[in-house]
Amino acid sequence: MESPLLFLLLLHTVITITAASAQPHSNITLNSSLTTAIAGARNPSWLSPSGDFAFGLLPLPTNSSLFLLAIWFANLPNTTTVVWTPNRDNPLPPNSSVILTSDGRLSLRDPSGTEVWNPGSSAASYAAMLDTGDFVLVASDHSVLWESFSDPTDTILPTQTLSPNSKLVAKLSEDDFSDGKFKLAVQPDGDLVFYLVAVPTGFQYNSYWTSGTNTSNSSLVFDVSGSIHLISPTKALLTTLTSATTKSTSDFYHRGTLDSDGVFRHYVHPKPSAIAGAAAEWVIMDFKPADICTNMITSLGSGVCGFNSYCTYDTNKKVVCQCPVGYTWIDPNRAYMGCKHTFTMPSCISGVQSEGFQMVRVDNINFWGNDYDRLNPMTEADCEQQCLEDCFCATAIYDGQNNCWKKKLPLSNGVKASNVNGTAFMKLGNYDNLPIVNVTKKRIWLLPGFLALGGSVLLNIIVLYLTYMFLRASKRKQRHQLKDSILGPNLKAFTYKELEEATKSFGEELGRGACGTVYKGYLGPELTGTPYLAVKKLRDFQPEIDKEFANEVKSICQTHHKNLVRLLGYCNQDTNRLLVYEYMSNGSLASFLFNGIRPPWEQRVGIILGIARGLRYLHEECSTQIIHCDIKPQNVLLDVNFVPRISDFGLAKLLKKDQTRTNTGIRGTKGYVAPEWFRNAGISAKVDVYSFGVMVLEILFCRRNVEKDMDEEKALLTFWVSDCYNDGRIDALVEGDEEAMADMGRVQRFVMVALWCVQEEPAMRPTMGQVTQMLEGAVAINPVPPV
Ligand SMILES: *[C@@H]1O[C@H](CO)[C@@H](O)[C@H](O)[C@H]1NC(C)=O
Ligand SMILES: *[C@@H]1O[C@H](CO)[C@@H](O)[C@H](O)[C@H]1NC(C)=O
Ligand SMILES: *[C@@H]1O[C@H](CO)[C@@H](O)[C@H](O)[C@H]1NC(C)=O
Ligand SMILES: *[C@@H]1O[C@H](CO)[C@@H](O)[C@H](O)[C@H]1NC(C)=O
Ligand SMILES: *[C@@H]1O[C@H](CO)[C@@H](O)[C@H](O)[C@H]1NC(C)=O
Ligand SMILES: *[C@@H]1O[C@H](CO)[C@@H](O)[C@H](O)[C@H]1NC(C)=O
Ligand SMILES: *[C@@H]1O[C@H](CO)[C@@H](O)[C@H](O)[C@H]1NC(C)=O
Ligand SMILES: *[C@@H]1O[C@H](CO)[C@@H](O)[C@H](O)[C@H]1NC(C)=O
Repeated sequence: MESPLLFLLLLHTVITITAASAQPHSNITLNSSLTTAIAGARNPSWLSPSGDFAFGLLPLPTNSSLFLLAIWFANLPNTTTVVWTPNRDNPLPPNSSVILTSDGRLSLRDPSGTEVWNPGSSAASYAAMLDTGDFVLVASDHSVLWESFSDPTDTILPTQTLSPNSKLVAKLSEDDFSDGKFKLAVQPDGDLVFYLVAVPTGFQYNSYWTSGTNTSNSSLVFDVSGSIHLISPTKALLTTLTSATTKSTSDFYHRGTLDSDGVFRHYVHPKPSAIAGAAAEWVIMDFKPADICTNMITSLGSGVCGFNSYCTYDTNKKVVCQCPVGYTWIDPNRAYMGCKHTFTMPSCISGVQSEGFQMVRVDNINFWGNDYDRLNPMTEADCEQQCLEDCFCATAIYDGQNNCWKKKLPLSNGVKASNVNGTAFMKLGNYDNLPIVNVTKKRIWLLPGFLALGGSVLLNIIVLYLTYMFLRASKRKQRHQLKDSILGPNLKAFTYKELEEATKSFGEELGRGACGTVYKGYLGPELTGTPYLAVKKLRDFQPEIDKEFANEVKSICQTHHKNLVRLLGYCNQDTNRLLVYEYMSNGSLASFLFNGIRPPWEQRVGIILGIARGLRYLHEECSTQIIHCDIKPQNVLLDVNFVPRISDFGLAKLLKKDQTRTNTGIRGTKGYVAPEWFRNAGISAKVDVYSFGVMVLEILFCRRNVEKDMDEEKALLTFWVSDCYNDGRIDALVEGDEEAMADMGRVQRFVMVALWCVQEEPAMRPTMGQVTQMLEGAVAINPVPPV
């Protein structure tokens, strides 16, 4: 009993080892099998006689413990290019195998031996991997029972024919082999059609390209001269899909692949034996359709790119999908899922709802379809305003012909290209993730710290007037010239052209402020670790802005702290002033806190501590003290790990350590501004401590300092917290926040620190060093005097 079993096992092992070795196989005999390789070992395969193609089990590029049965180019030194796979939606675990059984069936089996795929033919007498890339099962009379060419995946090879009713289906993404969003169908009515399909159900949406031919039962043929044609049943040439006839199929590998971006491309790659020194990579010779971004308009589905994203091209004409300003990927690794907005859209409960929203203009963009209203005639400005005031409207497209198209979410068929006439006005929350946006001067007039000064209307008016005079007087004093010599040695000086290219001609706006606009840029990973940059373009020709530029560059270039956004470079060319910052992928603290979802407690605690350390560094650890002057959640950005990074030193004032008076204008934003700003008194680092205190309360309780819609007693957070603190009811503040309620000791400590920070008298406020120690629990905190 024992020895036959042992023999069989041994036989199996011997066959497996023989099969797995890299010898070219001519005929694959019955009882042959391949089993997945252990990690790092050579992929088990059956090679074609020339060694050009391999049939075997290949690990996924994204997960080496999942395997595809595949045919691939085996002779390319640096890449594995898969041309066929039957189990792309169902990759298998280790110890899976493919067997040509003793009764002539090809069978793909999981580790338990259960068959998961077979090509549906039996009684083969042998199989062969041919030099064309075709894998065949052959009967004893030499007829072909089945071939991989008859069951294509996303690629067609020379000598292969796609018969009527066959199709190619693109991969989902470059790295994800599962069924994707695009299909090329050879229809029995003779039309060759590209379709958009739903993932994962495969529902067929509209077509985005068709050959327009109508000869029944036509086939798509890849001939050996290097052209892909549609031919009639009588072999008449109907149309040519792609062609690379200058590259012979004897010296070059050819393939036509429906790529994951929906474009069918004809690639060539020099064979190793041919033409030494030729580019050892796949080169695109031809492709269809010519302009997929503008060709694709579907009534259902998202279009080429996912919902709320738009289609554009990189410099190599490759399709790229991007999220518009105010939107971010639902899953950055799966762009086809589309983008989500990073702010709360108006709820429409109260009808007109423009408060708290702004419109951002994007040129040469359109989102086709999904209009719910068309206004005509309309000016551009009216179009923008109409959408802002309409709570249903997410984006309005002004088409340059007096039409204003209003659109709801999700946006579909997005395209941005120089030949697109539409201008979009995209609605954004004011607390959207707009990194490095300055406060507009207008907002300063709105009720800055007045509530903190008491309720008298007369007093408010007097303060308002004084503030105005103070601002005017101080603005006139600012005159300075930028000298390049003050710039630090580690900064990169960019040319304007470099930044223009990096931002795709300043195409993607991240935010806009009083002195400039911030754009998303791409410069490649070597500079920052992430490939993105935030490029702040300052407006031209204003000497005051020139001064600002000098200040900003000077003060940031010597700071290095993990809680500060790093300045990477600048451009100071002709009339152009630009600053280049690290790009912070998680947006601003404001959008993180105020988007309606309460972030985890521990994360909020970490953010408070991080900001405190960043500020302590600016105030106490730099060689020259830096006062930020505009600390608020919009100016704290979150990096990929949600570490808080203080940004926007644009108007920060450099102070010698002993200096307490300044003559700059008021910076800062309502609700965060320390009262001494309004007294024309000395401005010290304590203004930041005040703003920090306000912000700590906002982070603790996930609401803005000023909430006009709340009950009067709760409308101003600083007042409400101090009332609750004085009445011993801190628990009322964290109602509903179970994580915080479980950590009341820390809530109490942080509230006390915050209340010390917002003391009216600057001298009463602690320094950031003391604040950090108190927050960390390193020192005891005195009871807070009533505010
Ligand atoms: C493969 O097997 C068939 C049938 O056994 C035989 O006729 C043919 O010559 C073999 N081909 C090669 C290349 O060995
Ligand atoms: C790879 O796939 C296996 C099986 O699905 C899964 O358990 C594992 O987590 C995956 N590994 C990675 C790195 O995704
Ligand atoms: C695969 O099989 C080998 C030998 O049969 C065994 O040692 C190994 O544990 C198996 N691996 C898995 C993941 O089942
Ligand atoms: C395949 O293996 C079975 C037993 O495992 C044996 O009976 C059969 O003869 C083998 N067939 C070939 C063609 O080797
Ligand atoms: C097929 O196409 C030709 C030329 O485009 C046209 O003249 C003819 O009417 C079409 N035939 C049918 C059946 O649609
Ligand atoms: C196309 O092919 C199908 C299947 O082979 C056949 O039934 C049909 O008659 C053909 N149509 C024409 C117009 O030749
Ligand atoms: C391919 O790999 C070889 C050896 O690693 C290298 O010399 C060559 O530059 C690579 N070619 C390409 C196109 O990356
Ligand atoms: C854009 O407008 C120009 C001039 O009005 C027109 O010629 C062109 O066709 C339009 N482009 C598109 C894509 O509609």
